[in-house]
This record gives sequence, structure tokens and C-alpha cells, in this order.
Amino acid sequence: MIDIKDKFNIIELGAGCGLAGFVASFLTTNNVYITDGNEVVLRLLTKNQEYINNSNVIIHSLRWGLKDAVVSFYNKYFDYNSSDHKYKNIIIGADVILWPNEIESLLLTIKLLLCSNKDSLCIISYITRARTTTELLYNEIKKQNMEIEFIASDKYLPSPQPSNLCNLEKNIFLIKLIDPNNNILYNTCENDRSDYIDKNSSAC
Ligand SMILES: C[S@@+](CC[C@H](N)C(=O)[O-])C[C@H]1O[C@@H](n2cnc3c(N)ncnc32)[C@H](O)[C@@H]1O
Repeated sequence: MIDIKDKFNIIELGAGCGLAGFVASFLTTNNVYITDGNEVVLRLLTKNQEYINNSNVIIHSLRWGLKDAVVSFYNKYFDYNSSDHKYKNIIIGADVILWPNEIESLLLTIKLLLCSNKDSLCIISYITRARTTTELLYNEIKKQNMEIEFIASDKYLPSPQPSNLCNLEKNIFLIKLIDPNNNILYNTCENDRSDYIDKNSSAC
């Protein structure tokens, strides 16, 4: 699905210690943006980067509910005047669907980052803690004109599955814009940037 010889940007959301992003940074020479919205976590990420010292890693604060921060992150790296805008974004997030009240702002952030290139895609994962959260995720995806594809665990886990993983309800999803080749929809991304601002104004 992803050829590591291609040019692309990786953006990790809600990175925590940054495991997924740092591992990715060893697999590619492309830029890997490792982000989180929590100041303490960002200090940890900065320390991890000092230790790992991969030159393609950019640690950046990105809090999904803060419209100005999200839009300025986008403008800095991915808008039409920026160096990385021409490459597709591969957005990753491990265990980032936890809080029902954060799903909308997370998806708006993902949507904005998907808009920069029609081949962009997002892969997020989480453990089900409440079924209602998954329902909410599906509803919100539909509302925001994106599509979601569940990736079956036999695609990424060894068979037979390790016994300590059997009881966990694991979810990995691939998220894309609906019909990204459709110019009309693709062009609406500019509007989505103002949508982001409108929808999140209460969260700021
Ligand atoms: C359950 S942890 C997952 C951390 C890491 N991805 C992992 O798999 O270990 C969720 C992460 O999302 C971050 N987070 C929560 N709400 C956020 C928000 N609104 N914006 C950005 N990051 C957020 C938290 O700071 C935390 O690091």
C-alpha cells in the first residue's frame, strides 16, 4: 500500500512517547512530524528526539481542539507555499480514540491534513473501551464526508494470534476523503479550513 521509496510526509497525532513516529523515521528518509497536544508529553518527545537524533524528525505541538494551532501547523508545512505540500501526507495515530468529546476535533484535524494532497491517507488505531465510541466515530466520519475502512487483524498480526492479544478488541482503520479525485470535493478543502475554525471555536 505504501512504497517507502516514494516521497511523502508522515504525521503522527497524539504521539505519546512517539514510538510509532520514531519507528517510522528509521524506515524512511522522508520527514516525520511527531505531534502531541500535551506539554509534558512534548518535553518527553523532545528528550526522545535528542537521544534518537534522527534528522528527518520534527517534534511539534499539535492540539486537535485548538483551531489556530492546527491551522498554523498546516500552513507552516503543507499549504501551497510550503516545501512539503506537494507530497502526500500519511497520518498515523496509535490509541487516539479514547474520549468521545475529542472525536470531532481529531477528525477535523485529520481532514485538514488529508486535504493537502489527494493521495493522502490516515491510519489510526485504538482499543475499544466503549462500543459507543466506535459508533460515534462512524457517525462523525460520515458527517465529515470521509470514508473509513476497518483493517482486519489477520492483516497485521501473526497467525495464530499471540494469546495475550486475543481478549483485546483492537481496531485499525484507514481513513480517506470520499472521492479525493473529484475536483469539486477536493476544492472544498479550502472551505473545510474555515469549517474547522467554525466548528472548533467553542473548544478554544
Ligand atoms: C492513549 S495516549 C496514546 C499515546 C501513543 N500514541 C501510544 O500509542 O502510546 C493518547 C495521546 O493523545 C494525546 N492527546 C489527547 N488529546 C489530544 C488533543 N486534543 N490533541 C493532541 N493530542 C492529544 C495525549 O497527550 C496522549 O499522548
